[in-house]
Formats: sequence, C-alpha cells, structure tokens
Amino acid sequence: MEKKPFYITTPIYYPSGNPHIGHCYTTVACDSIARYRRMQGYDVMFLTGTDEHGLKIEQKAAEKGVTPKEYVDEVVKTFKKLWSYMNISYDRYIRTTDDYHIETVQKIFKALYDKGYIYKGEYKGKYCTPCESFWTESQLDENGCCPECHREVTEAKEEAYFFKMSPFAERIEKLLTETDYLQPKTRATELVNNFIKPGLEDLCVSRTTFKWGIPVTFDDKHVVYVWIDALSNYISALGFWNEQYNDFDKFWPADVHMVAKDIMRFHAIIWPAMLMALDLPLPKHLAVHGWITFNGQKMSKSKGNAVDPFDALETYGADAIRWYFYTASAPWIPKKFSGKLVLEGQRKFMGTLWNTYAFFVLYANIDNFDATKYSLEYDKLAVMDKWILSKLNSAVAGVDECLSNYKIPEAAKYLQEFVDDLSNWYVRRSRERFWAKGMEQDKINAYMTLYTALVTISKAAAPMIPFMTEDIYRNLVCSI
Ligand code: MSP
Repeated sequence: MEKKPFYITTPIYYPSGNPHIGHCYTTVACDSIARYRRMQGYDVMFLTGTDEHGLKIEQKAAEKGVTPKEYVDEVVKTFKKLWSYMNISYDRYIRTTDDYHIETVQKIFKALYDKGYIYKGEYKGKYCTPCESFWTESQLDENGCCPECHREVTEAKEEAYFFKMSPFAERIEKLLTETDYLQPKTRATELVNNFIKPGLEDLCVSRTTFKWGIPVTFDDKHVVYVWIDALSNYISALGFWNEQYNDFDKFWPADVHMVAKDIMRFHAIIWPAMLMALDLPLPKHLAVHGWITFNGQKMSKSKGNAVDPFDALETYGADAIRWYFYTASAPWIPKKFSGKLVLEGQRKFMGTLWNTYAFFVLYANIDNFDATKYSLEYDKLAVMDKWILSKLNSAVAGVDECLSNYKIPEAAKYLQEFVDDLSNWYVRRSRERFWAKGMEQDKINAYMTLYTALVTISKAAAPMIPFMTEDIYRNLVCSI
C-alpha cells in the first residue's frame, strides 16, 4: 500500500549570522513531528533551509570583504553542522540561491504580473534596515520605531512593484476565522483587526536599492523583495515550476508550516494570498509558537543576546536542549533560556527515565531475566501493574493526540507525568517484588510490566529525545 504523504516545513532562516538557540526551537519542534509521522508510517518530507538574499546579507558580506554568495556558503555550513549535532532528520534543505528556486521565483513573479496582481508603483514608507521591513505609520510602536526590533526607522521612497492583496481579503479572513488553518486560532482576531479590517495594504515586492536578490526578468533594475522569494521556497523545494524535483503533486498542500509569531503575518496573510493568486491549494495548517527569550527579550542576532547553540550542545547535549524546548508551557508564553532550566528538565524527565531503566537493567542482569521468554499475562497481574499499564495507555494516547495536533508542550507533559508515576509510584512500591528469590509469577509480572512500560514510553518519547530513547529501546528490545 502506498504510504500517505506528510509535508512539514520550518521557516528558512536568514544566514546573516550564525544560528542561535532561538532558531533551534522551531527546527527541533518540526523534527519531533516529522519523526512521529515517520513512525506512524507516513512518507514524510521535512523541509528546512536558508533565506539567503537581501540587503543585510549584502552588507555583512561587504564588511567581510567577500561576495554575498561566499558569505552565505560559510554560514550555511554552520547551520547544517548544527542540525546534524541537534539530530535533525530533515529530508531536504533549500537555499534560496539555488538555481531551481530562482527559476521558480522568477516564474511566479512573472505569472502574478501577467495576471494583474503585481503592478509597478512607488513606495513611500518607514523602513527598518535590520528587519528589512517597510512599516506603515500605524504599525510602528509607541515610540515611532520598528514594531519588531524597536529600532529607529527611516523614511524611504522608491520605484517598486506591488502585490495587490485586497482581492483576497475576504477569503483570508474566512481562512483565519472559520477554518483550523491557524493554530492557535486565538491569534486570528489580532490579525483580522490589525491587517484585514483596516483594508489589506498592497505589499512591496521588489527593490532597486540593492542588488543581492533574484532579478525581475522583465525589469532588470529590480530584484524580487524578500517575502515572495522566501515564501515560494515551500513549493519550489518540491519542484513547482522547476525541473529539480518532482514531488509537488505528492506533497502539496503542506500539512503544516511551523513558525514563531514574528513571521505569523507573512504566513497567515501574504502566503495564502500568493497561493490564491496562483490558483494553488492552501497549506492545511500554520502552527505558530512563542519566542525563546534571554534577559527578558526575544533572543535574536540583531539584539546581541543570542546564545550560541554549539556551546549549549557541548554543555547539555542535544536531547536535554530538545527536551527543554518542548516543555515551554504554552505556545504564546515566551520561554526564557537558562542553563539552569535545561538542567532541571534533564534531571526531571531524562534523569527519571534513565534511572528507572537502570533499575530494570540492574535487576534483569542479576536475575538473568530475558523478556522474550515471557509474555505479559494481563489477568495474572497485580492491581498496581494494571494501574501503571492503564496509565501507560493513556499517556501514549495523549502523546499521539498532542503530536498529531502540534501540541508539543502538552505531549511532553504526558510523558513527564507517566515517567513520574512509573518511578515514584510503581518502582518505589514494587521494589521488593524484584528482590524476591527465584522467578515467581509475581516477580515475572513486575519485570514484564516495567519492561513493557519502558519499551513503550521510550518509543513514544523517541520523536522528541531521539538519542537517549534509541539507547534504551535498542538495549531493551535487541539485547534482552
Ligand atoms: N527568513 C525569514 C523566514 C522566511 S520563511 C519563508 C526569517 N528568518 S529568521 O532567521 O529571522 O527566522 C525566524 C524564525 O526563526 C522564527 O519564526 C522562529 O521560527 C525562529 N526563531 C528565531 N528566533 C527565535 C526565538 N528567539 N525564539 C523562538 N524562535 C525563534 O524570519
């Protein structure tokens, strides 16, 4: 039988500097969902990549005395190294400087122009150079600064192409308020009130003041301005309007794009509008999460408060950092990064799971216990065995339900609660059963219950902390 396709994407990151811990958050979250879907038998396409054009990169390269392409080539190596250390199982990596992507973007831009959705005009507005964003007066913060990085904006004016957004306003409003596209849906009101109700403004989609971008084929003074270039990656990476790949029919529409709230607007409004203009199906979901903060502010390169993920990896290891990300309490609550919290999570979850596993292995070795020789005979089990197994069932069902709906912190909570019950309640109270002499039925029951619990929970946690669970799972299933 043909496997069902599942397509998940991270944002494509700006390689204007090396990645920081904040970038790892979305990628790790996507990785856990991709692994989960693979375990369920889906044919998964997990896409990540880098968004390599724009003024900032042009400037950074100039500072270093290298070409923009040379500059991004180096940073991309670091991104890829990081994803390998973090145990990220992406299937495809897109770079917006790849020829096939450029071809697709040029064709999309031309198609939108031919359909009358892109037109030439003049841009006047407030421009934030670090964020590469134009803002309207009403979007600026209370100090008249950029609403995202809160730095000063400058008055800017230039000839530019625009993407007409208004024809799609009604459909987009319905998409946000009447479907489950946006998760969590609570953010729909804010988007509708801030951007749709006041009238969707046309989007500036080309620039003439820098060169590091994809040239507009029919007007070579212009390069395609960042969002049309960036958002198209989700379809160019499948071979849409290029010959590089041939997966578009199989994987589009995407099951989920995962992003943080800083780029929600682009994915909730502009991307659907682009797809509508191209007559393409819309992605099924947009899962939006909060920020990792540091010293009270969103962690970012431009704020200079970024934590180097390589240092963190060396200190805590990939699983501990991954686990810390998942335990962010709710999608909209910012999560401050601190080594102390990473260690606490590691001790509470991974430590508890590992100690329980070590307890089992210790006694199994003493007793030469071989789980393959026995089966779990439910009717013969003690009440507490049945109790922990029923807890196990509901924990696994809970993790399943949550990961299917991109509720990662909730999935982590189910796992944590079960591991606590297993260690603090089941093992503590069953200890003496393992000390009994000989292999009586009650002892076998205790062994088989604990064995089943450890194997099953490791499998359930495998998409989230792949290194440690693989160790446990392999040792228990392969060597016993
Ligand atoms: N290039 C655009 C995205 C284009 S997608 C078609 C971009 N790049 S970015 O490098 O700035 O990355 C933004 C994304 O990185 C966020 O949406 C989020 O997924 C992740 N994060 C960056 N900093 C983060 C935190 N401090 N906390 C959580 N996620 C963070 O925007």
